[in-house]
Amino acid sequence: MSNLDLNVHNHLDEGTEALRADVREGLSAATKWLPPKWFYDARGSELFEEITTLPEYYPTRAEREILTREAAEIARVTAARTLVELGSGSSEKTRLLLDSLRAHGSLGEFVPLDVSSSALNAAAEAITAEYPGLSVHGVVGDFTEHLELLPGARPRLVAFLGGTIGNFLPAERSKFLRSVRDVLDEGEWLLLGTDLVKNPDVLIRAYDDAAGVTAEFNRNVLRVINARLGADFDPDRFAHESYWDAERSWIEMRLRAKEDLTVRIPGAGMEVWFAEGEYVRTEISAKFRPGQVRDELADAGFALERWWTDAENRFGVSLARSVRA
Ligand code: SAH
Ligand code: AVI
Repeated sequence: MSNLDLNVHNHLDEGTEALRADVREGLSAATKWLPPKWFYDARGSELFEEITTLPEYYPTRAEREILTREAAEIARVTAARTLVELGSGSSEKTRLLLDSLRAHGSLGEFVPLDVSSSALNAAAEAITAEYPGLSVHGVVGDFTEHLELLPGARPRLVAFLGGTIGNFLPAERSKFLRSVRDVLDEGEWLLLGTDLVKNPDVLIRAYDDAAGVTAEFNRNVLRVINARLGADFDPDRFAHESYWDAERSWIEMRLRAKEDLTVRIPGAGMEVWFAEGEYVRTEISAKFRPGQVRDELADAGFALERWWTDAENRFGVSLARSVRA
């Protein structure tokens, strides 16, 4: 890398072992499922960026509204020297934090981490060019596995934006929050974006847009499995669905077989049979109540210091301090 202020470390093995294991487990389950991290090859990351601009997909705009309003306060309260961002994607909203932490005078290092090497590299290079003197240390990795590798001068502020915490199942979510707490020293910071419970029609539409971009994003996981495991999924034979599970308080994205199908997945050594109407759960996106976020943070060893919502109460951002090991 020619630019001395930028380095990117790749902690992902380029093989297909992790995908193979997930496909074997998820597609042999009674109710089939796939983990959402496999959406994000280069095309999946591009489709996600397109989703963030759709009229129906409000979370990005709502979170940006909050960060625009509160970035200076976040810098003042945390005085962070390192900004770590998990699931950083394009780091578009993160520039608000970089600007405020720079203006405050504390920031020296930015550590974006993402499973998508294309998104990570593009964002890390762009930010290196835009912020002369800032040391950018990109990490291509999985935030459920590679947190212990996070560098940076203390105090660090770990940002986990976009509502990505909602893509974990509840047990995974508490494990993840504890693992973040475990790598932080007492007094370091977590900035967490959470989408909030609201009118189901609004939620369902946010995951089933009129232009069909979310449907393409959803089907992209099948294309990833075709490319990496030599499978013969025909994505057009699966219908995209956005389903609100009121009891569990989450949106489920599903791909439903339009007809009886047999799919060969040589790289996973399996053939999978789909009955017409059978679906694969490809993502959950949990929606939160404000008190719930405080409680879950407390359980993981974080004290909630600030809680902000956008003007329409659609999205919440928490600023929490790590309080005990
Ligand atoms: N933070 C950005 C992007 C959110 S999209 C925003 O708020 O707009 C979710 C991001 O998390 C994607 O860039 C995806 O590649 C990344 N991601 C998903 N699962 C991951 C995992 N297990 N480890 C690391 N990154 C992951
Ligand atoms: C990344 N994550 C928070 C998005 C969400 O809203 O759950 C992913 C997404 N899925 C469909 N649209 C966007």
